[in-house]
Amino acid sequence: MGNDKRMKVGIIGLGAIGERLIQKFEQHPETQITAICDTNQDRLQMFKQRLQTAEGYTDYHTLLKSADVDLVHIAVPPKFHHEVLLSAAAAGKHILCEKPLANTYDEAAEMLAAVEKTGVVHGIHFPLAYSSAVDELIRQTADNELGRIKRVELNLQLPLWPRTWQQNPWIAGREQGGFVREVTPHFIEVILRAFGNVNRVESLIDYPENGTDCETAIIARAELEGGIPFLVNGLSGIAVKETFELTLYGDKKTLHFKNWTFLEESNYEQTGLPIEIIPNDESSLLISELVKAVKGEKANLVTFKEGLKIQEVLEQLLNRR
Ligand SMILES: NC(=O)c1ccc[n+]([C@@H]2O[C@H](COP(=O)([O-])OP(=O)(O)OC[C@H]3O[C@@H](n4cnc5c(N)ncnc54)[C@H](O)[C@@H]3O)[C@@H](O)[C@H]2O)c1
Repeated sequence: MGNDKRMKVGIIGLGAIGERLIQKFEQHPETQITAICDTNQDRLQMFKQRLQTAEGYTDYHTLLKSADVDLVHIAVPPKFHHEVLLSAAAAGKHILCEKPLANTYDEAAEMLAAVEKTGVVHGIHFPLAYSSAVDELIRQTADNELGRIKRVELNLQLPLWPRTWQQNPWIAGREQGGFVREVTPHFIEVILRAFGNVNRVESLIDYPENGTDCETAIIARAELEGGIPFLVNGLSGIAVKETFELTLYGDKKTLHFKNWTFLEESNYEQTGLPIEIIPNDESSLLISELVKAVKGEKANLVTFKEGLKIQEVLEQLLNRR
């Protein structure tokens, strides 16, 4: 590579999300993908053909021994984040981990301790951390434009789980799948950023009787700073169009963040007025921040410190903590 100063990236896990970020790392002027790894030979060969110059591995331990990798993106299923990440930290690689950080709180705590001990850069792939709509929602909240916030509500309406784009062996299982684990961490990150803490979580979850399939419904209540009630209402297998909506009800204004992208406001006369916002290329911004952090510059990352807090709320929503 000689004078090539681009950050060298290894991707571990070439599934739906590994593939999504491969495209972003390929397009980014300051990164190059030098190594890829998947236990599935077909996936590995497919990406070897596409990324001619990247080394291919079926064992992540071998990838981690390569000197030609500065940062790894860990995009394996959630229950494998822990083992891959501890090895990556021990190998001194900087890390971008998929969300949720881990499969349990204890795993997440151990992962945070490992990266702090070795001093590697650590970030989690939360696209909403780079969303201009969420930035605007947080700005308006901080500037008190909503007046007194009376309630924050997260509604997850899922006609289908798993969704058509994410068919894999683990996503419908109770052990590491389910929409509470998959979807709510994105919004918990936003809520912790906007409100500081989530306290007193009480959660009711419906599971199928077979003991192995993931939840079909959640109703939860918690409290944000200042005693603001926070409600989570999620349901799958229902006759609706897929909708994710975070609503902040204020006595001056209500804000609705819809389907990952759209910000709307309501007042006493009208509901759902669009707020014009130019969307960011969120994953590319994340990559730029990772590059900065690896160069030792100040960077905006959702680190494992926040990841552990998010994990704690997630485990409480799942009634596991
Ligand atoms: N950040 C986001 O917006 C977002 C969205 C959806 C999913 N995710 C997360 O991304 C991760 C991956 O999800 P996905 O939908 O791509 O899953 P997936 O099942 O499609 O892909 C996982 C890949 O990892 C491979 N793999 C499994 N064990 C391995 C191992 N030990 N070594 C190497 N490869 C291994 C599998 O063969 C598979 O190709 C999960 O943690 C998921 O929660 C993140």
